[in-house]
Amino acid sequence: MDLKEKIGIYEDFPIEGISFKDINSLLLEPKAFKHVIDEMHLVAKALDANIVGIPEARGYIFGTPLAYLLGIGLVPVRKPGKLPGVVVSEEYKLEYGSNIVEIQRDSIKPGDRIILVDDLLATGGTLMAATKLVEKLGGEVSGIIILIELTDLGGRELLKDYFIHSMITYPC
Ligand code: PRP
Ligand code: MG
Repeated sequence: MDLKEKIGIYEDFPIEGISFKDINSLLLEPKAFKHVIDEMHLVAKALDANIVGIPEARGYIFGTPLAYLLGIGLVPVRKPGKLPGVVVSEEYKLEYGSNIVEIQRDSIKPGDRIILVDDLLATGGTLMAATKLVEKLGGEVSGIIILIELTDLGGRELLKDYFIHSMITYPC
């Protein structure tokens, strides 16, 4: 299946100069969505993990059915201020400014093996911050699975210490 043709492209969104890759058109096609989750499942089975970590918000879409199929736990990696109890935070740089991601401290224990799942890898800032949160709590990242990889933005290089599986790449 040609998944790339299922992705919508919106130029100059959300700001000028950005060519936005929209997964919503793919989500409307059940066969395409099933294809994506089935491939992620196949890859994930070999990673011997006990938790799927999912960056809010679009990581939830792919990571949740994957955790269901694998029969393992889910840990949301959230934007700041959303989680109750003790949280660990990690700040990461954007082109302008910065973002913070958080997880609950008790959600990951030493020895846990985590697959991180997101829709898209761009600069890698989000997923790198997620790996740091996992490792702060003594967990190990067993791999990263994403639907779309923007190959010109350095994400794979930033995350070079980790196994990464992507299914669609841009620009080629
Ligand atoms: C987008 C995308 C990835 C991240 C990739 O999320 O869903 O999570 O950016 O970019 P990076 O590799 O440069 O970090 P965004 O924070 O825009 O929000 P959303 O998932 O809540 O829509
Ligand atoms: Mg996101």
